[in-house]
Amino acid sequence: MTSYDLTGRKALVTGAAQGLGAGMASALAQAGAAVAVADINDELGHETVDSLRSAGAKAEFVHLDVRHDAEWESAMATAVAALGGIDIVVNNAGVEVTDLLIDFDADAASTLLSVNVLGTALSAIDRLTRVAAAESGKLGYGVRINCIYPGLTPTAMGNKLAVETAGLGLFDSPEAAAGAVAELTPLGRLGQVDDMADAVVFLSSDAAKFITGAGLPVDGGMGM
Ligand SMILES: NC(=O)c1ccc[n+]([C@@H]2O[C@H](COP(=O)([O-])OP(=O)(O)OC[C@H]3O[C@@H](n4cnc5c(N)ncnc54)[C@H](O)[C@@H]3O)[C@@H](O)[C@H]2O)c1
Repeated sequence: MTSYDLTGRKALVTGAAQGLGAGMASALAQAGAAVAVADINDELGHETVDSLRSAGAKAEFVHLDVRHDAEWESAMATAVAALGGIDIVVNNAGVEVTDLLIDFDADAASTLLSVNVLGTALSAIDRLTRVAAAESGKLGYGVRINCIYPGLTPTAMGNKLAVETAGLGLFDSPEAAAGAVAELTPLGRLGQVDDMADAVVFLSSDAAKFITGAGLPVDGGMGM
């Protein structure tokens, strides 16, 4: 639960059908925002919207594959019509491909880059955040752009990563993989969905009104 007030704001979160995105959508809604849940998984996306609505939030599902420009246009138009505008966009959607570099398949690499980089924007995320913030500030768009770097969090993706790195022989078991990350983390544990969601609510709120172009590690100090 957060104390930042987003009453009256309208947010769109990509990849919000499950995992970190669903947690971010829920935290933004708890802070008072109306939320568009955008995802390629329509069934799970609708379930997330139902659960946000049962908690009293204004929420809508919009189908969006972040790799396609045309889908962004229609999803944003749908979200703006449904919510009455958009103040906050969280580019959370991502996929994970776990493989040893020697076995890395070109198609898998292309999917990873197209969703995680191209889907968020057209360059590497950190540099892009700073450039976008500089342009937005200088040109007076009135938009702040920040990013967070999540630590390993046991969502569907986080759990799959632990299972697959163990499967590749890098760790004895998924538990050992997760344990190794926790051990390298100064705060001594893996991330939780709430940790990421609270950081997003903070960056979306007026408490962060002079923060733009920032990359915020939310990783218990692990720094990798
Ligand atoms: N979980 C972690 O440990 C961790 C750590 C660092 C970064 N991240 C990043 O956080 C984000 C969320 O991770 P998560 O753990 O919640 O993953 P997840 O796999 O649990 O959920 C990802 C969501 O994104 C959606 N999605 C996938 N491709 C999409 C596309 N092309 N267009 C729209 N939606 C799409 C999926 O349907 C799913 O609902 C990802 O960008 C991931 O890279 C996660």
